[in-house]
Amino acid sequence: MSTAPTTPVSPAPVWDVINGFTSYWALSTALDLGLFDALAKDVDSGTGLDAGQLAAAIGATEPGQVTVLAETLVALDLLSAAEDRFLLTPAAERFLVSTAPASMATLVRYSPGPPAAWPGLAETIRTGAPAPAVTAELAGLYPALVRATGPTQAGVATAVAAELERRGWWPEQPTIVDLGCGSGAWTTALLRSRPNGTAIAVDLPNVLPIAEQAAVDLGLGDRLIGVAGDYLEVPLPVSTADVVILAHVLRAEPAERARQLLARAVELAGANGVVVVVDYPRPDPARPRHDGDEDRNAVCTAARHELLLSLTMLASTAGLGVTVADLHAWAEAAGAELVDSFEPIPRQHVRLIRSRTPEATS
Ligand SMILES: C[S@@+](CC[C@H](N)C(=O)[O-])C[C@H]1O[C@@H](n2cnc3c(N)ncnc32)[C@H](O)[C@@H]1O
Repeated sequence: MSTAPTTPVSPAPVWDVINGFTSYWALSTALDLGLFDALAKDVDSGTGLDAGQLAAAIGATEPGQVTVLAETLVALDLLSAAEDRFLLTPAAERFLVSTAPASMATLVRYSPGPPAAWPGLAETIRTGAPAPAVTAELAGLYPALVRATGPTQAGVATAVAAELERRGWWPEQPTIVDLGCGSGAWTTALLRSRPNGTAIAVDLPNVLPIAEQAAVDLGLGDRLIGVAGDYLEVPLPVSTADVVILAHVLRAEPAERARQLLARAVELAGANGVVVVVDYPRPDPARPRHDGDEDRNAVCTAARHELLLSLTMLASTAGLGVTVADLHAWAEAAGAELVDSFEPIPRQHVRLIRSRTPEATS
């Protein structure tokens, strides 16, 4: 009896995951060594540095070791190579040089959250919650984390102001409420676009001073009112706002608190304001398959970034991430609807939520 040849099963998906760990450390090490900054100093020459020059520039002893690291970064598309010289790729120049306006150099260190969250993840899933020490470590990391995300968020906020303007939803004297304001990147970018606007910026007591200081540094201090406390409960000095920002906060909250937070934002926005939600929604729950429906595997593969960020939340917070279905349901329960979504810069998904019964404006 002959048996049909079987297709060999490749271990590549498992190796890809193992290599994800080493890739992360290749990038972190290059940042620790100042490798991208060293190449940025030479960027005008356009010729790059060879391993000896690169070793000298970053204070390394062995050019051979630097070659292995640099060639790994070439394989990861973070450097390019021309003969025996190494150069920055456009992505490295824009996102990995520490002084670049859109630099993500510090974010690389803080984006995975507390390091102890990862070896503890199995226990978190067994018990249903991260260890208190992990949650406490995350609270201590927030100041560094929000500073690291500031440049990207300022870019998103500026694009959102332009979009609100285009829609006629950006009054000349807006009141802005920024719930979980972090570095103040959103508040300050929005205040800069409206010289007569005022903002209420809410965050935890150990983070709020960062936003307040950022506003002072930019000459906006007299137009920002800082409120320290839990964004779900702390009393605010206004009862309505033209624009309410929920940027990268919902996914870290358990579903019930996230629902209540969105409801608070919708109530503040009232009949004619807008709630701006920026997050990384993971795929909606599976629907019954029928002809023409997207394959669930394809949906998960496309949302790999969002799923991994949701797992990062699960590892160190009480949140699981959010889905677009959650946002629809929570908005609807609060008497509002998700009116539009757009991606002003890659991977930053913005959703606009408005009351279902806007007041007629004359
Ligand atoms: C991922 S950061 C986002 C910061 C900012 N919205 C941005 O997009 O740049 C989450 C922020 O929520 C704040 N936060 C977390 N829990 C909070 C709470 N219960 N009340 C107020 N702020 C909170 C954190 O301190 C942190 O600044």
